[in-house]
Amino acid sequence: MLVSLKKVLVEARAKHYAVPAMNVNNMEAVKAIISAAEHMHSPVIIQTSEGAIEYAGIEYLAALIRIAAKGKIPVVMHLDHGKKLEYVKMALAHGYTSVMFDGSALPEKDNIRISTQVVKLAHAKGASVEAEIGAIAGIEDFVSVEEKDAHLTNPEAALDFVKKTGCDALAIAIGTAHGAYKFKGKTHLDLDRLKKIAKLVKLPLVLHGASGVLEDVKELAEKHGAQLGKARGVLDEDIQQAISLGISKINIDTDLRLAFTAGIREAVDDLPQVIDPRKLLEPANLLMREVAMRKMKLFGSAGRVK
Ligand code: G3H
Ligand code: 13P
Ligand code: ZN
Repeated sequence: MLVSLKKVLVEARAKHYAVPAMNVNNMEAVKAIISAAEHMHSPVIIQTSEGAIEYAGIEYLAALIRIAAKGKIPVVMHLDHGKKLEYVKMALAHGYTSVMFDGSALPEKDNIRISTQVVKLAHAKGASVEAEIGAIAGIEDFVSVEEKDAHLTNPEAALDFVKKTGCDALAIAIGTAHGAYKFKGKTHLDLDRLKKIAKLVKLPLVLHGASGVLEDVKELAEKHGAQLGKARGVLDEDIQQAISLGISKINIDTDLRLAFTAGIREAVDDLPQVIDPRKLLEPANLLMREVAMRKMKLFGSAGRVK
C-alpha cells in the first residue's frame, strides 16, 4: 500500500530501525526492490531522482511504483533530491506520497523559505517532506578541517531549520558522500555530531550517501572487467551506530547500481550466446534483490510488516 514518508519514519525512529530508501530508474529495479521487501516483510521507500525522471519519464516511474505498492507492504513513493520546484510540483501531481526538497546549496534563509513553501504544497496533498541542511559530500571534497566542519550539519541550525520549515524528516551531513568513492583513507562518520543533532531534533533523520560498496559485489564486477580500485563505502557497524542514534531513513543507490552492472557484466561474459535481454538481465535482477534484502536486515526494517 502507498503510504506517506511520515507514516513509516515516525515508527522507525521510535523503534530504532531505519527504512531503506532505494533509487530506481527502471522496471527491473522496482521489481527487485519490492520482491526483496515482500520477502523480508519490510517497509520500503522507492525514490526517483530528477535524473531518473528525465531518463524514464515520471508517468512510467509513478505507474511502476504504484503497481509495486499494490500488495500489503507499505511503500513510499518519494522524490529524491528535488532541487527545482517544478519537479516537486510534478511529483505531487503524479501522486508521490513524499518529496525531498534539497536546498542544501542555497543560502540558509532561501533554503528555509523554499522548504517551508514545499511543506505547504505537500501537506495540502497529504504528502510528506524531507528537507536538508548541511552539504552531503566526501571528506576529500573539503580542503581543510575547518571547511569540512562548516559543511557538516550544525546541530543548533538543524533545530532552528525544522522549527521554521515544519518538515517531516531531515537529511543531515555527517561525512558521507554520494557515489562509490566516499572516503580517502579510513571511512569515518561524525557520530558525535549525529548524537548532538539527534538530542535536539526529534524528527526522523536521513542518511544520504550510505552505500557500503559491498566487497563481494565489487569482486564480481572486477572479475568481469570493472575497475573499482579505491571505491570505499560506509561500514556496516557505522550504519548500525547511526541507526541507534536516530537515523531512520537510509538512502542507497550506488550499491544497487554496482549490483545491477556487475550482474550484467557477468551475464555478458558467461552467456555469450544469449540474445534474449530478459535472460541477460536475470543475474542483475537477482543480485539487486539480494543486495536490497541485505540492507533490510542490516537496517532492522526486516520483519516489521506483520
Ligand atoms: O543522490 C543521488 C542519487 O544517487 C541519484 O543519482 O541523479 O544520477 O539519478 P542520479
Ligand atoms: P549512495 O550513492 O551512497 O548510494 O547514496 C545514494 C543517495 O544518497 C541518494 O539520495
Ligand atoms: Zn542523496
